[in-house]
Formats: sequence, structure tokens, C-alpha cells
Amino acid sequence: MMKKRYTLEQKKWDSPIEHAMPTHARVPASVTIGNVVIAPATVLAPMAGVTDTVFRRFIKNASQFTTHESTTNPGAPHLEEMWAQDATAVNQETTNQQSGCGLIMTEFTSADGLSRMRETKRKRYLTYYDDEHPISAQLFGSNPETLADSARIVQDAGFDIVDLNLGCPAKRVVACNGGSGLLKDLPQIERIFKAIRAAVTIPFTVKFRIGWNDAHIVCVELAKLAEDNGLNACALHARTREDGYTGQARWEYIAAVKDAVKIPVIGNGDIRTPEDAATMVEKTNCDAVMIGRTAPANPWIFRQIAQYTASKEATGVGTYDHPTNDDRYRMIRTYFQMLVDEIALEEAAETARAEAIIAQGQIAREKRNRDAVGKMKQFAAWFTHGVPGGGALRKQIFESKNGNAVIAAVEQFFETHPNLPDEADTAAVQDDDKTLLTEAAYCD
Ligand SMILES: Cc1cc2nc3c(=O)[nH]c(=O)nc-3n(C[C@H](O)[C@H](O)[C@H](O)COP(=O)(O)O)c2cc1C
Repeated sequence: MMKKRYTLEQKKWDSPIEHAMPTHARVPASVTIGNVVIAPATVLAPMAGVTDTVFRRFIKNASQFTTHESTTNPGAPHLEEMWAQDATAVNQETTNQQSGCGLIMTEFTSADGLSRMRETKRKRYLTYYDDEHPISAQLFGSNPETLADSARIVQDAGFDIVDLNLGCPAKRVVACNGGSGLLKDLPQIERIFKAIRAAVTIPFTVKFRIGWNDAHIVCVELAKLAEDNGLNACALHARTREDGYTGQARWEYIAAVKDAVKIPVIGNGDIRTPEDAATMVEKTNCDAVMIGRTAPANPWIFRQIAQYTASKEATGVGTYDHPTNDDRYRMIRTYFQMLVDEIALEEAAETARAEAIIAQGQIAREKRNRDAVGKMKQFAAWFTHGVPGGGALRKQIFESKNGNAVIAAVEQFFETHPNLPDEADTAAVQDDDKTLLTEAAYCD
């Protein structure tokens, strides 16, 4: 099996369009997928190498609203306090729930791998916590029986929704006919739809691109196929496989899909601000919006959208908060602490499980530590752009050898930069802010 590697790649937004806030449109307060209510109608996009349980909970919690005041002590962050940041009053009847992020999704998981794995290893792949509901698990593969087996495993693991990936452009996924490779074979897609639908009772959704290339655009046909086969919603990243991430997402195809089916349509591609989200709804009439690359650059994006929606509803004028330097400190510190805590938890579980194989356990521990530091570096690269002096912090983080050294660098940085002007309006991600660390296994 090929080893996962993290590489630095340029996954930019190509000359992003700045949308003004539309006068009337806003992201819906909720959407119902099968029997699952998603409120508000916002989804964290699945991102391999990024949306693990720690990142998902971080985003969901960073999007929370509370009424009590923050008592955060920067030296000793406590999760409850982290989230207790006063937001502009949000009408919870409008946002329906405390978190501005309505649905989170796992990274894509290979159905072949999942169906072959031992129970214990499966658990590791499908780890999620109670506070992640509603949560959707995404699968990829090309064999209907294997996908159906894996969908059953997902259902038995307690996920609320199972999602099929038909968008992945990675060569090694496409080579085995998975991901966007299937876009060239609608009859096989139909066989897969039928097999998964027959295997599970939880809502079943599909995420796809508009087609293989401009000569082969299938999104409307595919959405109808999904509806005809009992799928409960579809999500469209409005680019072809050949587009990769270039050019603008072509939202007109989201509108075309929405026109063609009655099941909920989730629009995806190039949302960087609450203005973009509302404009996508205005232009496509989509039922929900899905956000990927912006989330690690601006974890407040879901909260900002919910604030905008709620204030618009209440007063007719939509507003939203911009994170201060202090907010950014608390956020980066919290995320890193969550990564360190998760490793400690896994270590404890492992020690309990495997006293007898200490040598092996040691190797696994070291590997996990490396992974956590890798994630900290990845997140730092996204998140510190727009922070004054962020370049120096990034350099220090990249030179750190372990998690505690990374956290110490963050603390020292924010201690010595307490009163910097707030340039941290990542809603408008600046030009040099678009270097994303991507996961080689997903984005070739
Ligand atoms: C690093 C990275 C990993 C991704 N992994 C997945 C994945 O596992 N499954 C999937 O359906 N899409 C994946 N995507 C695509 C995103 O879900 C999303 O469709 C795409 O980034 C466009 O949305 P955005 O403009 O909001 O980023 C990935 C994208 C990135 C940048």
C-alpha cells in the first residue's frame, strides 16, 4: 500500500471573485437529508489529510455561539472557555443549533480497505466523538458489493449519513475507477447506487464533479440518477476532473442540477466569505453550501455565515464578526492542544491494549507524534497568513521538533505581539495566502 505523504502544493483560488453581499439571499437555516436535519445548512467539505476527528471538532466548536463572556486565560486554555466567545447576538431559532457548522464529514475512506480491515483497525479509521453528530462518512471505490459492505460498516458504526465520493481526481484512485474516474461510467454508478441503497437505511448522498472534462459533462444526468435510485441529497463541486482546482467553480451547473432534481442540492466550490456563500445561494438556489479550503484558513467562516443569516433575519441588516488577533491566538492554541490531547488519549488506549508489544507501541507512538506535528505545521501554514508577523511564526513552527515546542512558539509569538493591529480578516484571504498544504494521496 502506498504511504501517505504530505507535500507542499499550490492549490490556489484562481483570481478569486469578490462578491458583494446580495440584498435578499441568505444561506438557509436548515436542510433535511432523509431524516437528518442539518441546521444551519452548511457543510464542512471532506478533505483528506485535514478533516480528521480533531479538525472536525475544532471547526464545529469554533463555530459555536454562547452568551456568557470569555474568561480565557491565554496561558492555560480550557476548551469550554475557548468556545465561550461572545458573538453578536445570534437568534438560535434562525441558526437552529449552537454551532454555525451544520454537518461535518470524514475524509474519504477506501471501501476496499475498510471491508478488508480487522475490526480494531476499522475503528481507528472511523473514529468520531458523540459531539460530532450529525456526521457523514465518505467512501470511495468502484465495486458495488464492497461499497455496499462498507456502507453497512459505516451505518453500524453509528454515522448519520453515508456519502459516495465521485469527485476525487487523484490518479491512483481514478486508476482503479474510483472517485471521478467513475464519472465516465454512469451504468456502473447506477449499479453502485442500487447496491448501497439496498444495504443501508441511513441517508445516502453523493459528492461529485460536473464531469470528466468539458466534452463529458454529466452532472445533471448523474443527479437525476441519484434521485431515481433513492439517494437523499447530492453535493456538487462545480468543476470537471480536468479542471483540478483551476479557474472559477462554475456555479451555473449547481443551478442546473438544482433545477433538475427535488432532492436537496449542496453547492460547493470557491466559497471564501459569507458574501460568497449567500451569492451562491442567490445564483443557484442550492439548499446548502459546502466549504473546504477556506475552513483551515478561516475557521470562523461557518460562524460568520450564521451570524450574517441571523442578524439579517432579525434586523434586516446582515453583519458578522471578524476575528481579532486574540481570537486567532486562542484558536491556534486550542487546535494544537486538541491534537496533543488526542495523541495522549490514543496512547492511553494503546497502552491498555498492547502492554505486551511495547516495542511496536513505541514505533506507533513516534509515528503519531510526527503526524501531529505535521498537522500543526500544515495548519500553521494556512492559518497564520493575514496575522501580522505570521511569517516568523511559521518559520519557528516549521523548525519545531515536537508538539510542545510548537505550542511554546505560538505562545511566545502571541505574548510578544499582543497588541498588533487586526489584519486578520481572513474572510478576504490575501493573494499570498493561498498556498495550501495538500495531501498527495488526494490531490495529484
Ligand atoms: C487537501 C484536500 C483534500 C480533499 N479531500 C477530499 C476528500 O477526501 N473527499 C472529497 O470528496 N473531496 C475532497 N476534497 C475536495 C473538497 O471537498 C472540495 O470539494 C474542494 O476543495 C472545493 O471546495 P472549496 O473551494 O470550498 O475548497 C479535498 C480538497 C482538498 C484541498
